[in-house]
Amino acid sequence: MPADPALVDRLAQFGQDHVLRFWDELDPEGRNRLIGQLERLDLPRLAQMIDRLVLSPSKEEALAIDPQQVEPVDVRRVPQTDSERVIRRRAAERGEAALAAGEVAAVLVAGGQGTRLGFDAPKGTYPIGPVSGASLFQMHAEKLVALGRRFGKPIPLYIMTSPENHEATTSFFAQHQQFGLDHVRFFVQGQLPAVDAASGKLLLAAKDSLALSPDGHGGTITALAARDHPDQASCLDDMSDRGIQTLFYFQVDNPLVQICDPAYLGLHLMAEADISFKVVEKQRPEEKVGVVVQVDGHAQVIEYSDLPTELAERREPDGGLQLWAGSIAIHCFDRAFLERLVSGGGQLPVHRALKKVPHLGDSGRRVEPEGPNAVKFETFIFDALPLADRWSIVETERAIEFEPLKNATGPDSPATVRQRLSDLFGDWLEQAGAQVLRRGDGSVPFGIEISPLFALDAAELKQKIEPGLVVDRPIVLGP
Ligand code: UTP
Repeated sequence: MPADPALVDRLAQFGQDHVLRFWDELDPEGRNRLIGQLERLDLPRLAQMIDRLVLSPSKEEALAIDPQQVEPVDVRRVPQTDSERVIRRRAAERGEAALAAGEVAAVLVAGGQGTRLGFDAPKGTYPIGPVSGASLFQMHAEKLVALGRRFGKPIPLYIMTSPENHEATTSFFAQHQQFGLDHVRFFVQGQLPAVDAASGKLLLAAKDSLALSPDGHGGTITALAARDHPDQASCLDDMSDRGIQTLFYFQVDNPLVQICDPAYLGLHLMAEADISFKVVEKQRPEEKVGVVVQVDGHAQVIEYSDLPTELAERREPDGGLQLWAGSIAIHCFDRAFLERLVSGGGQLPVHRALKKVPHLGDSGRRVEPEGPNAVKFETFIFDALPLADRWSIVETERAIEFEPLKNATGPDSPATVRQRLSDLFGDWLEQAGAQVLRRGDGSVPFGIEISPLFALDAAELKQKIEPGLVVDRPIVLGP
């Protein structure tokens, strides 16, 4: 059976009909798979993306920001004075009230491919616990269970997966009885096709399949609003039905994240913000972290790869970096803001990433490129910031809240993450009155792990351990 002539025409109109070149060799299942993928493509939008980001990327550079207009953004710094501490305390009370009223949901994005880590399963299943080997998912889930108990209301969790890792992620949660969570809902993000970097032609991963990849963490917004079938409520509708006003957004790779931090939630609510960002002080001009800045009176994020050196190196008279507010991808969203974005189209700008993408050559043989050969498209969640009317930017300390698992070795790798967790738990133990053996440089020479179900912070730990406890070997404190 030949391919539907209308589809062939449509593809030809956009110069993409080569994707049907193996049609005659496909069985009915393969044909259906390919047709399904092609029908989901927004070809006019894709053509614009290819024109702007693949065939003439210099046009994109011409749109870059004028450095003269970029200013530091207002940030709630870590409190230093008593009056600042009072404001933080009041904010925490406001956040605690929202949690106790059941008005907060957690959104965990876990649809990434984790290519740098090179782990053959969803990154959330990575055994990161320094002693027990608890997974990232377990650590996040247990924090939510513990918070639900503390505030007397379970916190619903919404987890974004991708078509590639959905099955493995949901089975992992099922194997672990959802880690004791009351309400977990998985939702699948969209995909975008990869195209040849020289010609802009769609690449095939197999004779019956396009080379597709997840549409970036910016895909969260449309995926939260999507329905798998017409009579299913979207995640946003489900949240609305449950009386959720605020979404706490976090990413799977940072086990230090203070999920639903009441003070952060409270500052967001007190500012009546559409969106909030947690930031840490950038350590070096070349550090690979996006910075929150202000341009023309409006806040936005500049990705590290787009930040001109002149701006990255700009300093204040005291020698500190002027654009220091590094985003660590921990956000609060007002639900109504997301609904407004979605009803207005909901599409965030698309960015390009030059990558190595294996594909089928013209002859049908697999091509393993030696260098980057393709452009992948993705959207970034922080691009929602310029669309907000009100925002809140809050500083936190890197040592207590940010150590993401990105690489197999070197910085941001299992070794650094486990060390940071042990050091942080060592600090909690000391604050709770224990004595902890340390190396000369202050780091802890063995694994320490405290399950969120045992204690969520140093204050709770203090009520649970014997005064004068000596910790001089690996320890796990669990439920
Ligand atoms: P990263 O951008 O660090 O990507 O994602 P990654 O997939 O973890 O790793 P690399 O770049 O391939 O090595 C940051 C967070 O955003 C999520 C990831 O799962 C992670 O929690 N993410 C990223 C998505 O949920 N979907 C995406 O399409 C991209």
